[in-house]
Amino acid sequence: MLKNQRISLNLQDSSYPVIIGSNSLKSLKNVTGKQNFYKNIFVIIDENVKKHFFQKIQNSLKSFFTKKCIYILKQGETSKSYPELNKIYKVLIEKKYGRDSLVLAIGGGVTGDLAGYAASTYMRGIQLIHVPTTLLADVDSSIGGKTGINFEKRKNMIGTFYQPQAVLIDTDFLHTLPQNELISGIGEVVKYAFIITPNFYKYIFDNFDRLLKKDKAVLNKIIFESVLFKSSVVGRDEKETGLRKILNFGHTFAHAYESGLNFKIKHGEAVITGIISALYLSNIKGFLNNKKLRQFLSDIKQVKKISTLKNLNTEFVLSIMKNDKKNKADTIRFILLKDIGQVVTDVEATRNDIIKSVLLTKNFLNN
Ligand code: GLY
Repeated sequence: MLKNQRISLNLQDSSYPVIIGSNSLKSLKNVTGKQNFYKNIFVIIDENVKKHFFQKIQNSLKSFFTKKCIYILKQGETSKSYPELNKIYKVLIEKKYGRDSLVLAIGGGVTGDLAGYAASTYMRGIQLIHVPTTLLADVDSSIGGKTGINFEKRKNMIGTFYQPQAVLIDTDFLHTLPQNELISGIGEVVKYAFIITPNFYKYIFDNFDRLLKKDKAVLNKIIFESVLFKSSVVGRDEKETGLRKILNFGHTFAHAYESGLNFKIKHGEAVITGIISALYLSNIKGFLNNKKLRQFLSDIKQVKKISTLKNLNTEFVLSIMKNDKKNKADTIRFILLKDIGQVVTDVEATRNDIIKSVLLTKNFLNN
């Protein structure tokens, strides 16, 4: 068995460990055994995590915490909402959780974002540990302190930057990950392929079949490299005033596609389609030449099952984009690409160029 790996996410005033590997949930005891951790633990999981891992989770909490409660969410994006948040606050209050409490978020992006927001706002902030269970949460959403809920179909419109005290990436959770969740995680992996280095891009696409088969060595390497990269970016720009924007490559389109399809498409899948659109737009804006565009699109074809966008209303996509958090004044801004590892941020695009990119994406996905 491979030894767990450890990355330290260093922020200006603090740092926290990210522990990666098989059964790293067992580190919960060591991590929280330290004096600065509270022993009143509030665990948030969803029905699916309960179904497969309830025993494992209970074992990890055994005879160690003074007070414990496991709160179970309905699975899916609709849980990232105010009604669900209210229910969490109510249970926290009923069960008399004070400021000396710790939220343990065990799950995918939805659980992590919602639990993180609850932890960041309850009594002005209580402790938080993320235990991601999906590839998407492993490589992206559990790292870097973004929390949030959706608001009136607008993705992550309400939220906070709130760093956890630790992240335990237990790769054993991936054994039961269904194919659609794997593809969703691959969306963020493909994003890293484009924004990190040509070597990492090559590794990912050379090993794509192994990744689709959940090969452990490939998953471990991809998770480690992605977390290492994201940690260094977040360490330099925690609140996304500059550099961190590169992590949103493909996301302006992706968030609009998710809203436009009523969240019936998984986030990571929307990210893949968003990346395709961002590549087309990069080409239209003159950053990316035709040869590279063709090569990148042909590599992306290895992600075999990408949802089509045929039910998407392009006008609605534009109206959602106008509310994107990266915009300034009335302009819609994009993160685009010159080449692998060469990202351009804050690029304005015209309505025509955006529509053209969406239509080219629809066309590519239907081929
Ligand atoms: N998912 C992008 C970020 O955390 O900044």
